[in-house]
Amino acid sequence: MIEKTLAIIKPDAVKKNVIGKIISRIEDEGFKITAMRLAKLTKDEAKGFYIVHKDKSFYIPLTDYMSSGPVMLMRLERENAIGHWRKVMGATDPAKAEPGTIRRLYGFSIESNATHGSDAPETAEWELNYFFKG
Ligand code: CMP
Repeated sequence: MIEKTLAIIKPDAVKKNVIGKIISRIEDEGFKITAMRLAKLTKDEAKGFYIVHKDKSFYIPLTDYMSSGPVMLMRLERENAIGHWRKVMGATDPAKAEPGTIRRLYGFSIESNATHGSDAPETAEWELNYFFKG
């Protein structure tokens, strides 16, 4: 079954000039990119996107960071897109991510961790709708 997920190339990876490398990897992993947009999120857009984390200690620094520079928003499609993209990204903390994963290759810290991916079908639908209207 073809599934959709939201992927974001975060500000640290955009600044590092690795958008192209990450997109190549996405294509090599068999995803179709069916929507893509470079955006500079406002603080309110970042806060709305990460609203599930509103009570966490990292909510304010995370949303400051996500609105600090351009991000690349993408809709990816593939069989098992959600799980596969999470596997290709690696663990949230780049230091704990497997060698060869995107976060291990390009991430810097748990906050500046290069990419985001939806974590379940319901969140993928909500997140895609947030940026792409589905
Ligand atoms: P992401 O997949 O975008 O989802 C939530 C983000 O919060 C996560 O990646 C991290 O970049 C960020 N974050 C910052 N601090 C923490 C933390 N202590 N634990 C988990 N996520 C964190």
